[in-house]
Amino acid sequence: MRIIISTTGECIRKAAAAISEIIKRKPNATLGLATGSTMIPLYRELVRLYKKGEIDFSRVRTFNLDEYADLSFNDKNSYHRYMNRNFFNKVNIKKLNVHFPASKGDEYEKEIKNSGGLDLVLLGIGTNGHIAFNEPGSSFNSRTRKIKLSDSTIKSNSRFFTSARRVPEEAYTMGIKTIMRSRKIILLAFGTKKSNAVLRAIKGPITEKIPASVLRQHKDATFILDRKAAAQL
Ligand code: GLP
Repeated sequence: MRIIISTTGECIRKAAAAISEIIKRKPNATLGLATGSTMIPLYRELVRLYKKGEIDFSRVRTFNLDEYADLSFNDKNSYHRYMNRNFFNKVNIKKLNVHFPASKGDEYEKEIKNSGGLDLVLLGIGTNGHIAFNEPGSSFNSRTRKIKLSDSTIKSNSRFFTSARRVPEEAYTMGIKTIMRSRKIILLAFGTKKSNAVLRAIKGPITEKIPASVLRQHKDATFILDRKAAAQL
């Protein structure tokens, strides 16, 4: 596992450069994509590189990591809407090449397999150490499935909703095993709020209680952290 600690801006540039390099090497690369506030500046940077002619997404295939259950795709908090607004509508990706786990389980696994497996999974981290929506206690052998969100995630994500009561209680998520099968993994974490989860993921025991700790068992995983997220290391 590699750890890169830098300014937030430099972290974004490094992550975007890694994605760009993969797509240059393999124009039909398969990417697992995260949502959340951490990824917004990264998508902005990828859109900038696309507009400069440095990345061509026309053959890229994407598999989003997660989606709330029981939210319409047009809901302002759905991850479909997030991805369209922040990324897909702004680059030349083909909608046919875009995939979400909503209502899918094994079918999603098959779609990933049929596309040749994931070349890169981009991850954020929850304050409780979750990756995608694999909450603490998720099996390291888990695959794409419907899960119940933890109280801490509902509380943390309620900042995007009018109240915690409006946050869906369930979601679909790519499994930990599915993520670990990706050829490359990049986890981004910014800000003091993430520093304890980062500490436990990197220096604590490798345990299903901290799903992100499993990444230490991957042969090509990189944590890209800003100085605040890395403060407790
Ligand atoms: C959400 C998402 C995750 C994301 C994480 C961090 O619950 N399901 O995929 O990585 O929380 O989000 P943020 O970047 O907003 O802190």
